[in-house]
Amino acid sequence: MDNTTEMKSTAKANFKIAVLPGDGIGPEVMEAAQRVLSAVSKKFNLHFEYGHGLIGGAALDAMDTPLPEDTLHLCRSADAVLLGSVGGPKWDALPPEKRPERGGLLALRKQLNLFANLRPVRVYPSIAHLSPLNSRRLENGVDLLTVRELSGGIYFGEPKEKCDTSGLDTMYYDKQTISRVARLAFEAAGRRRNKLTSVDKANVLYSSLLWREAVEEIAPEYPKVELDHMYVDNAAMQMIVNPGQFDVILTGNLFGDILSDESAALPGSLGVLPSASLGDSVHLFEPAGGSAPDLAGLDKANPVAQILSAAMMCEYGLGLPDAAAAIRKAVEQSFTEGICTADLLSGSESPAAGTTQVAQAIAGYII
Ligand code: IPM
Ligand code: MN
Repeated sequence: MDNTTEMKSTAKANFKIAVLPGDGIGPEVMEAAQRVLSAVSKKFNLHFEYGHGLIGGAALDAMDTPLPEDTLHLCRSADAVLLGSVGGPKWDALPPEKRPERGGLLALRKQLNLFANLRPVRVYPSIAHLSPLNSRRLENGVDLLTVRELSGGIYFGEPKEKCDTSGLDTMYYDKQTISRVARLAFEAAGRRRNKLTSVDKANVLYSSLLWREAVEEIAPEYPKVELDHMYVDNAAMQMIVNPGQFDVILTGNLFGDILSDESAALPGSLGVLPSASLGDSVHLFEPAGGSAPDLAGLDKANPVAQILSAAMMCEYGLGLPDAAAAIRKAVEQSFTEGICTADLLSGSESPAAGTTQVAQAIAGYII
């Protein structure tokens, strides 16, 4: 798909989107995102065709499996997958392979060969007071992107087992897996501020020695991008001490899981963070936060992460950068006008808006 799609004004461009609301707040924030997409489709003369699928606990309840074949099929035949969130206490006692997280989300990532997880984090000036960091630490502005390897590392390495008295996981990487995600990270840095920090634990781990070697080998292909390496423990500290130094962070599956959650704390709410998981064919878009079961069904969940995930879908999945920009602009307008859920309003005068109201406002700004 190319970017000229949204230029054509005669025939409506048609996009097939697999919608997987999942568990907890998933369904309501998904509805909010679809409301915004509907405004986008009018403005840009697009047609989004939605196919709904079950995943996670919702699929376990209905079909006794966290990832039904139908859902996989739906995703494989779509232009992009928009996911809500999976998991909740109701399914926590199940064996790992059946739990929504491993049997649903991780299995879907594996099946779709999603190898790079992009988690952008910005501290928006209009809500910067919510950040747990004081303003001195935010002086340089925070606008970073973690590119996390998603298909390998300790999450998937074999052997993997648990006995009564011991447990074993294997941190394994081959060079090709590292090079593939490294190229993507270099390219992302080239479209941003040309700075790439590769994070590893090469002072201890052999898989990190290979990581560093593989990243170094790719670097000459991207001469404009400045590459540096950082140990993960230091990176965790730098994220707090001086987050403005980062542009793109490239790291493995486990380190990326942890660092991206740490970076997610910077804007002050998990409710504003989207993510994209890119593969070799269809890509998946989901909020970085969890299913927040305690908020489910109360019209209190912040829909912005899901809405911004829809924006990432427009940009990376459908080749619609103008649509993505329109969504982002509308979201920022909702911040400046204070039409926000409670998580974004600490210490402010405005009353909290509900999930639906926020979505309505954001959709309304897209005209
Ligand atoms: C994430 C989540 C998942 C992960 C869990 C739910 C399996 O924490 O997307 O970061 O660890 O990858
Ligand atoms: Mn995580």
